[in-house]
Amino acid sequence: MQTLAGVQALSDLNAQFGVANRITFETRFGGPVAVLTTPAAFAVVAIQGAQVLSYVLNGQPDVLWRSPLAQLGTGKAVRGGIPVCWPWFGPHPVDAARPAHGFVRAAPWRVESTASGPAYCEISFAFDASTTSLWEHRAMALLTVRVGDELKVSLETLNTGDSTILLTQALHTYLAVGDITKAAIKGLDERMFIDQLTGEQRRQAGDVTISGEVDRIYFGTIDRVTVRDPAQARAIGAGKSGSASTVIWNPWIAKSERLGDMGTDGYRHMVCVETCNAGPDVETLAPGGRHHISQSLRVLPL
Ligand code: BG6
Repeated sequence: MQTLAGVQALSDLNAQFGVANRITFETRFGGPVAVLTTPAAFAVVAIQGAQVLSYVLNGQPDVLWRSPLAQLGTGKAVRGGIPVCWPWFGPHPVDAARPAHGFVRAAPWRVESTASGPAYCEISFAFDASTTSLWEHRAMALLTVRVGDELKVSLETLNTGDSTILLTQALHTYLAVGDITKAAIKGLDERMFIDQLTGEQRRQAGDVTISGEVDRIYFGTIDRVTVRDPAQARAIGAGKSGSASTVIWNPWIAKSERLGDMGTDGYRHMVCVETCNAGPDVETLAPGGRHHISQSLRVLPL
């Protein structure tokens, strides 16, 4: 098999995992991706980071926001879609020199399998974190993307080493909205959150609306969050499992300028609703232990 820096070649991926008219491996956004097509929808998933970049239901605008500057192979995660933050969320808990949000979102994952049926297509990736110098533990991450009339992303962590892992992580989903100033995020009323901009803990009152920078870890959140998007006459429901924390993030104007990869007015057309283990929601994995987290996205009527 021909490989380049550990990346499986497109021809090999198509030969081994392609499914005629349903699952193909192609170059998009400057790098290798899988395109999964079903009667109801298609999705684009990059090999880099096992990152879903697009999920489009027939006749609908993309469910996921992606920067107009989105490009694979830059050494950074694409700004948009569903980056996978693993095995830590945010800055490393004790070593600020390590990359924020872990080390798998800009690295190539290995395609393990594909599957399809009349109404769905599925692809599974693996990342073996046993040899990186960025982490003292050993673990496998297994990520499955299932595409149909909903999009489900599942991430399983297996502790393959002999030390206990304190796992934090996120499916860092960028949802597309027509106009963030008209959107409302439902399902977090009465929940406590850590305001990452001030360090304060506060309680949510009513829907979350956004008219400035927002960076919050809501905890005690195991239920579906719904983003109402009247500008696109739809809502997006984000269900989950294995997660008791939800991050809501919008960088607004000044932080977008600092980030440099949001594109003009990008902040107006997105909100991150992240299915997490973050803040006080930390998973403890003894040797041999497993943890499973998932997020399901569905377009709903307003
Ligand atoms: C969010 C964090 O999950 O990710 C924010 O809560 C952070 O604090 C944001 O700014 C984006 O992170 P990055 O590393 O992709 O720029």
